[in-house]
Amino acid sequence: MAVSIITVPPGTVEADFPLLLGQPAETLRRGGLVAFPTETVYGLGVDALNQHAVRRVFIAKGRPADNPLIVHLPDQTWIDRVVSDFTPLARDLADRFWPGPLTLVLAARPDVPSATTAGLGTVAVRIPDSALARTLIGLAGTPVAAPSANVSGRPSPTTAAHVHADLSDRIDWIIDGGRCAVGIESTVIDARGTRPVILREGGITREMLGVDDAEPGDPARSPGTRHSHYQPMARVVIAPAGRSVRTANALADRGSVGLVGPDDDGVDPRVTLLSCPIGAEELAAVLYGSLREADARHLDLIVVEEVPTTGVGRAVMDRLHRARGQDLA
Ligand code: TXA
Ligand code: MG
Repeated sequence: MAVSIITVPPGTVEADFPLLLGQPAETLRRGGLVAFPTETVYGLGVDALNQHAVRRVFIAKGRPADNPLIVHLPDQTWIDRVVSDFTPLARDLADRFWPGPLTLVLAARPDVPSATTAGLGTVAVRIPDSALARTLIGLAGTPVAAPSANVSGRPSPTTAAHVHADLSDRIDWIIDGGRCAVGIESTVIDARGTRPVILREGGITREMLGVDDAEPGDPARSPGTRHSHYQPMARVVIAPAGRSVRTANALADRGSVGLVGPDDDGVDPRVTLLSCPIGAEELAAVLYGSLREADARHLDLIVVEEVPTTGVGRAVMDRLHRARGQDLA
């Protein structure tokens, strides 16, 4: 199967989206697979209520069946289609952070297929901060389950080219809406109680949620965080703040080295400078692309300079530790 691609140039007005997205929306209605951009990473969308279609997503990604999917909605009026109990906590978080990189785990309506929920009885929902994504889902007329559009175990895709590299022979459409602004996945929260319980750190931070650093999250209840994730082929080395150039230079004798760090002063000519992000937000935006580029260049090692674990830095360091193959949870 050859994938079809729709490119939505920057500056395209929202009023033109429906015209551009008619065919992929129809494909979703018929149970096909459509990759689309969100503000976090690209998702691989499928009709969340079509059990057969959802199974195809798991096959396309090579994803373990016990890892449930996030259901994407265009607006809050759709909540009742998949959620049976929209708690006061969820309502409050939704009002504050949607559309945005926040996913809420809530009691599922019984008609949400077990392929989508992995039989947990709960459903994860979010409204992405991407008019392209919301328009597509609205046109499809059905809630859209979408895991990140990568082969399982690879870094999440932040460009259409990343999606193409992983899945071009297995999906129907790629909607190219440019680079994702946030660059790492949404924060996943269990919102069934009265306090948010963080299952996966992400774009909406503890500070924004008013969840104390000391308050433990519960990644054990988010099946995806148990699986090994985000592992590039190159070995990842995390360098202390201010020491990434020295670390990369010192390793250049041992193999081909890529560098992701805030300065490029005095970099050994043998070292490949992959990106030069300053601060956690910029690192989040370029991290997955840099890991993929390291693989495309067949580098042996990739040195990434750490960022403080405050704000989005906490999620970035979580992903970096996973990329290194060390589970934090
Ligand atoms: O930003 C994102 O969240 C992106 C974009 C495409 O929206 N999606 C994404 O999906 O990262 P995925 O499938 O790669 O990660 C979903 C995470 C997994 O860790 C999964 O276990 C968890 O959400 N999850 C989904 N449903 C859940 C549920 N009912 N209970 C607990 N965790 C759930
Ligand atoms: Mg994923």
